[in-house]
Amino acid sequence: SLFKGSSKMIALFVPDIKNPFFPELARAVEDVTNQHNYTFILCNTDDSHEKEVTYLNALTQKSVDGFIIVSSTITEEDLHHITSPVISLDRKFSSKISSVTVNNRKGAREATAYLQSIGCKKIAHISGPQTASNTEERLKGYLDVVEHEAWFNSNYVVTGDYRFENSYEIAKQLLTNHNDIDGVFVANDLMAVGVLKAAESLHIKIPEQLSVIGFDGITIGLTTTPSLTTIQQPIYEIGSRAAQILLQLIDHPEQKVIQEELEVTLIERDSTKRKE
Ligand code: RIB
Repeated sequence: SLFKGSSKMIALFVPDIKNPFFPELARAVEDVTNQHNYTFILCNTDDSHEKEVTYLNALTQKSVDGFIIVSSTITEEDLHHITSPVISLDRKFSSKISSVTVNNRKGAREATAYLQSIGCKKIAHISGPQTASNTEERLKGYLDVVEHEAWFNSNYVVTGDYRFENSYEIAKQLLTNHNDIDGVFVANDLMAVGVLKAAESLHIKIPEQLSVIGFDGITIGLTTTPSLTTIQQPIYEIGSRAAQILLQLIDHPEQKVIQEELEVTLIERDSTKRKE
């Protein structure tokens, strides 16, 4: 940043500002960048490639010093003419770009194995949008556990979009079509809240008839009735690590790609229960 213009600004792109996971993450990025006297800019992209590219170009013109990007659609090509360092967060889009992610497959495997261990016999999965790298990892983790079960077939997997609105309808259909489902691993907490609502509207009792586990560990999961069992991501740490690495890359542009993977933890709450 000595040679080109520096604005002392860092931008974070998030796909969905309405999902509390992202403000929690943004908070961490802001804390670290502020400590280092950078101004923090937050861009909501709605997972739209067009919005991402527009923001990238506009902010590059303003000499933004670095980008922290959560994206399912950005490609290496989009970044060719971007001279400031970029780190991807939460989702990976290239092996050549530094990243901070979590062990999604392991977490998903743990979530599904946990449902099995408490006695669930038919476990469904509501996945994230097909474009997000972590959707695939979470799906793989689920399949690691159930794929070879005699009951398993692809009808037990439905694709969501990580948003609350859709998940309610999806879950309602799933639970109506398969009334034998007694466990659901939902790819994120926001959709899991939709499953709680859907079950309520169908008079399915959670956790007595149906156990539900989410992924993320956002604060909302503590406020639902029942509270949500989940795979907790270290959200604050993910954001602060990404910001620290980006600052390193800004100061040392010659530095190699850094890819970090953090661990997740299962948190048992009231939406799951061991079968008697
Ligand atoms: O809830 C939002 C989801 O999108 C999270 O699971 C996070 O990992 C992100 O990819």
